[in-house]
Amino acid sequence: MSINKKAKSHDLLHDNPFAINVLASGQEQLALNFAGKHDPKLDIPWREGQTAPYLGGTVAHFQCEPHEAYDGGDHTLFIGQVVHFRYNDGDALGYFRSRFTRLTEPRVAASPGTHDPFELPYDAYE
Ligand SMILES: Cc1cc2nc3c(=O)[nH]c(=O)nc-3n(C[C@H](O)[C@H](O)[C@H](O)COP(=O)(O)O)c2cc1C
Repeated sequence: MSINKKAKSHDLLHDNPFAINVLASGQEQLALNFAGKHDPKLDIPWREGQTAPYLGGTVAHFQCEPHEAYDGGDHTLFIGQVVHFRYNDGDALGYFRSRFTRLTEPRVAASPGTHDPFELPYDAYE
């Protein structure tokens, strides 16, 4: 992930585990809370992970061990090694042209032979 060097979370990410949360449609308030509009009354659905705390009610999360950090100018690119993940059915929350939008889950069954992206043979690229 790419984090602005001026963000409060930036220095915490160095050499620490972290989680990537793919928010579900309807979790706009959570998104805003972590995008600088902190809401002290918001009930944050923290879940204890094996590696890092993550958020409940999302469509997916990835718990990562720190792997590498690259200088990206005014941002740092933190690369994590995914050690645990989970995904759920449902629509995801998107952000497009400064507005939240719904990323709709495909309703039609995948055609036979379509790969599950979580089961891609990554070693095929080696
Ligand atoms: C949809 C959306 C996506 C964002 N993505 C990023 C991002 O990838 N990297 C980043 O540094 N800030 C991003 N931001 C801005 C941060 O959320 C914002 O700077 C936040 O205040 C940083 O929080 P912190 O200072 O508490 O760590 C994004 C904001 C929005 C609304």
